[in-house]
Amino acid sequence: MSLLIKNGRVITASEDYIADIFIEGEKIKAIGKDLQMKAGETVDASGMLVFPGGIDPHVHLDMPFMGTYSSDSYETGTRAALFGGTTMVIDFILQKQGASLQAALDEWNSRATGNAVGDYSFHMAVTDFNEHTKKEIKHFIEEEGISSFKTFMAYKGALMIDDRQMIGLMEEVKQQGGMVTVHATNGDMIDYLVAKHRNEGKVSPLYHYLSQPEVTEAEASERFVDMADYTNCPGYIVHLTCEGALNAVRNATKRNQHVFVETCIQYLLLDASLYQKDFDGAKWVMSPPLREKKDQDTLWAGINQGLVKVVATDHCPFKWEQKKMGEKDFSKIPNGHPAIEHRMELLYSEGVNSGKITLNKYVEVACTNPAKIFGMFPRKGTIGIGSDADIVIFDPNEKHTITASSHHMNVDYSAYEGWEIIGKVKTVLLRGKIAINDNKCILDKGYGQFIKRSKVKGMI
Ligand code: URP
Ligand code: ZN
Ligand code: ZN
Repeated sequence: MSLLIKNGRVITASEDYIADIFIEGEKIKAIGKDLQMKAGETVDASGMLVFPGGIDPHVHLDMPFMGTYSSDSYETGTRAALFGGTTMVIDFILQKQGASLQAALDEWNSRATGNAVGDYSFHMAVTDFNEHTKKEIKHFIEEEGISSFKTFMAYKGALMIDDRQMIGLMEEVKQQGGMVTVHATNGDMIDYLVAKHRNEGKVSPLYHYLSQPEVTEAEASERFVDMADYTNCPGYIVHLTCEGALNAVRNATKRNQHVFVETCIQYLLLDASLYQKDFDGAKWVMSPPLREKKDQDTLWAGINQGLVKVVATDHCPFKWEQKKMGEKDFSKIPNGHPAIEHRMELLYSEGVNSGKITLNKYVEVACTNPAKIFGMFPRKGTIGIGSDADIVIFDPNEKHTITASSHHMNVDYSAYEGWEIIGKVKTVLLRGKIAINDNKCILDKGYGQFIKRSKVKGMI
């Protein structure tokens, strides 16, 4: 099977040129002007941008959480991702406290195997670090191809680990060549504030926001960075939202430390005023919560300064019926919002088109850096000879409106309802096959592969 993409404007993290791309099987075989190869299929990309398939390294599909399951399955979630130009996601396996990492991997495999349309990998969330868990780390990195270990400094009583476990995990992960990633907010402070607000009868979504002030994130981020420095373990902060937390990372650079930072599309585009909308605010109940305009400025600047390396989604959708579990108590609203489908288009429209970031930076934070940081580059995350033919053909001028009635995520509302954006995904290739064309998904579930990742390579 072969395919020729003609005359597209090819964008990578460092280049921008007009060329043809010849694909054979799953791989890119040639790139150049006026390629003369005979191909089974030809796609005209004149006037279009052609960039690598997006990689969203932070999603939660079919995840048991807060008494329910996130509403996108591997099938619906990875399909929706493809519609939006994201060809690969990294999901989170949650260890059950008292059980092994292997048991959790088995459980997640039973939900994912044979169901994904797009490619995927897993981060292993360690919620109970002990002598048994410690022995499993090496196997996960060397045999399973899972080299990142997620920790929660919050969700006390459910997922949170203490600093003693964190240090132990970091020492072992460092030794075996992996990375520790973190949800960095102070779980004890949040637990106190949640209880205080509930006791005072303050139970609307606004109090979710007020229970997680900026200091809870700044403090935990600094503590995580310090522990990573002490253990010399590669560290990655997920869904960083605010100035105080980014400054903790910035300060660490002064002692020559490097910690990777991810933010999510919602923290760049939405702000905490949405929590003033009575229970409607539940649509944006997520942890950490949305912040202030000044934090959005900090995050955009952080991207351009090279401190914020990745823009993900933390896609964790719940239907409105599920959100209503917290109608009388904000602490029972399942945390998370749907975004897997619109990350690439929103970041293009609000980032590139509005002049906040360059096209190369766009590809860097949405495609290339996730592949580099998480051990998949150059197989994924770029357009180069020998790379997987994961390619997006994108019309930079088409205007369209985001709405729940036309999205493909399995959730009955949109967090961006009515947003008019510019730039649309037209055609998506995954490992050489056309996945999306003419607003239709051509691939079946089961095409998506689990992608094994390598050890952490260090700085990028
Ligand atoms: O609100 C969120 N973020 N839900 C998903 C779990 C997490 O903390 O990432
Ligand atoms: Zn989190
Ligand atoms: Zn998350």
